[in-house]
Amino acid sequence: MKLTEIVALVKFQKPDFSPVRRRLASSHDIHALRLAARKASPRPVFDYVDGGADDEISMAANEHAFTRRRFIPFALTGVAKVDPSTTIFGQSLALPLVLAPTGLTQMMHSAGEKSVATAAKKHGLPYTLSTLGTTSIADLAAAEHGDLWFQLYVGKDRERSLALVDEAADHGYKVLVIAVDTPVSGRRLRDMRNGLTLPPALNFKSIAGIAIRPGYWLRMLTSPGMSFENLKIKGSTVRELKGAAAWFDPDISWEDIEVIRKRWKGKLILKGPLGVADARRAVDLGVDGIQLSNHGGRQLDRTVAPLDLVAAVRAEIGPNVTLIVDSGIRSGADIAMALALGADAAAIGRAYLFGLMAGGEAGVDRALTILSTEFTRTMQLLGVTSIKALRDEGPNLLTD
Ligand SMILES: Cc1cc2nc3c(=O)[nH]c(=O)nc-3n(C[C@H](O)[C@H](O)[C@H](O)COP(=O)(O)O)c2cc1C
Repeated sequence: MKLTEIVALVKFQKPDFSPVRRRLASSHDIHALRLAARKASPRPVFDYVDGGADDEISMAANEHAFTRRRFIPFALTGVAKVDPSTTIFGQSLALPLVLAPTGLTQMMHSAGEKSVATAAKKHGLPYTLSTLGTTSIADLAAAEHGDLWFQLYVGKDRERSLALVDEAADHGYKVLVIAVDTPVSGRRLRDMRNGLTLPPALNFKSIAGIAIRPGYWLRMLTSPGMSFENLKIKGSTVRELKGAAAWFDPDISWEDIEVIRKRWKGKLILKGPLGVADARRAVDLGVDGIQLSNHGGRQLDRTVAPLDLVAAVRAEIGPNVTLIVDSGIRSGADIAMALALGADAAAIGRAYLFGLMAGGEAGVDRALTILSTEFTRTMQLLGVTSIKALRDEGPNLLTD
């Protein structure tokens, strides 16, 4: 064969000179995005996202809960057309997936919350802004976004806490999510070792770590300073995060939930590792949904994996209360597993943050594309064509 004939057979790809695009294009699953995030981020920042509380027992157990169970697929059901969309609280979602709240998002990438909300919109998914977000309720509502939810940490300053609830309502946030697993913040040893404590302190060691990732640092230096925009309390910049740790109230109780239930007219979710009795109490008190979560293993270490609570909590609260599960979701198959066990939707934290760290908005987009493609393929391979079928047939599709 002549060289000219060989050349005619070879398809040359245009070289891509953008390292970010190359990094994202070669990340084919969330685990690869995690590695890309590690390469792109200073160690203390990566560890802040990647790490968990104490011995990280819960964090590891969360992922294990998803990989322990096995599917028994239905054969020959005709899966050329599958519909992965669903409805939560009357809102249509392209996938049974919600982006969970994560504080300090601009520390991961200067593009911050706005870029996450924009990518979520593109994928037809709701995004939850955290009380400890680095973008205010109003600013995010003014940016490009789809459905927005707001997550509240009930602070010692009850007046300000309730003002946040009102602000979220005024700006059209659809769902209020109250996190009940943070009466005090968990102890994150990686952050302590790295000198990035909560509150993170920018000491000599953490600055040295940050400096070896010039791309990250350049973005940070050329963006406006970061602060806890929703707290608006003195000294709440990332340099002096004393404000955040002081915000948490160890005295938060069921009475607070009652007060907020009366005040918030929209849908209300409690987020935490709620056992059967607490889930029942929440529903009796008038909450509309439960988000089973152990904060991705960042709060009480050795907490039960939320996935392991799904079946029992669903049996207790019945079919009509919305049930979401997070902590440990790294693939579309994990989402399918959560639904087969009885959840209405899954939520992700680190999965989209890894994307954000690896490539800003394009990275979040990549993470959501990966999860959406994986979920649809899992439905096809399971032999189910709708979310209703996946939910209804769940018990027949799973074995321990
Ligand atoms: C870096 C980081 C920050 C977080 N910040 C918050 C927060 O401000 N409020 C909250 O309710 N949960 C927060 N979470 C917990 C997430 O909402 C979610 O429960 C958790 O990430 C799910 O586990 P996964 O990361 O394994 O998906 C945070 C999680 C991470 C990783």
